[in-house]
Amino acid sequence: MTDEFGLVDPEAGEGFGDEWEEIDVSDTEADRIARRRDREFDEFRKRIKDADQFKVEQSVFDDATFAAIYKLVQDGHIEAFGGPISTGKEANVYEALGDEGRDVAVKIYRINASNFRHMRDYLEGDPRFEGIASDKKEVVLAWTQKEFANLDRARRAGVRVPEPVAVERNVLVMELVGLVEERARRLTEVRVENPETAHEVVREYMRRLHGAGLVHGDLSEYNMIVHDGELVIIDLGQAVTVHHPNADEFLRRDCTNVANFFSRQGVDVTDDTLYEYVTDAEPDPEADLDGSEKSER
Ligand SMILES: Nc1ncnc2c1ncn2[C@@H]1O[C@H](COP(=O)(O)OP(=O)(O)O)[C@@H](O)[C@H]1O
Ligand SMILES: [Mg+2]
Repeated sequence: MTDEFGLVDPEAGEGFGDEWEEIDVSDTEADRIARRRDREFDEFRKRIKDADQFKVEQSVFDDATFAAIYKLVQDGHIEAFGGPISTGKEANVYEALGDEGRDVAVKIYRINASNFRHMRDYLEGDPRFEGIASDKKEVVLAWTQKEFANLDRARRAGVRVPEPVAVERNVLVMELVGLVEERARRLTEVRVENPETAHEVVREYMRRLHGAGLVHGDLSEYNMIVHDGELVIIDLGQAVTVHHPNADEFLRRDCTNVANFFSRQGVDVTDDTLYEYVTDAEPDPEADLDGSEKSER
């Protein structure tokens, strides 16, 4: 793997206030398509259910999920499906061909996700979700929209995340990091040749995310992928605003995970020094690397 890990630049001239994106979990076009069940959708549904990559999931995805995929195809965001990249606890990720021949990742949340309770813990207390979190479908729909909004907010704050492309119901389309032929690896799967630089980039992204009012909430070497010298933060579904009652606890946990990973790679970092850096609006870049002005030892 190449060893640049170059920081991306934040988008100029944009501040972040306390105003948050509207989340709407009312019926979407996909729900209407699923109910209407016209011939074209029926054919699409049959075709996609027969496709090899969906054989396993066809019992897991409901008609409205197939309708959401159908809508994304009609809108031109998905041209063709490739194989599955990942089958997680709550969502499956597929590679697909998107608009203008570019590769995309399609993350499909299962409505009957087993850790629905765990999702509620993150949603309750988030100002964006007041009045939601009542039924399973609404929670998953809100969650998917939240991941889209979080990716967009993170990107604008200069955090390298997959660029969000479209969201429909419980289906999220985003930039595929890496190539269909050469899949990006998680940080845990690669040998990090320059852990110092990688650590500097990660802590800066954590700081920018925090500055934009967000805490990742599940950050570790499992939710960072590397490709072509770039380090990309993924899986922002659970990210909460800094106003969430557990935001600080989540941030501390993120710092512990990240600090543990990099200290195993020989970097001089602790959860406390990382936390300090991340929450500092104007940190001293040298502080915790060159013999620690800030950490007491
Ligand atoms: N945009 C993307 N580009 C490339 N690979 C991705 C992308 N998003 C997810 N993946 C792959 O899919 C896996 C699961 O995605 P993630 O968003 O972490 O979902 P989960 O909630 O199941 O952990 C990741 O570990 C990564 O390997
Ligand atoms: Mg993940």
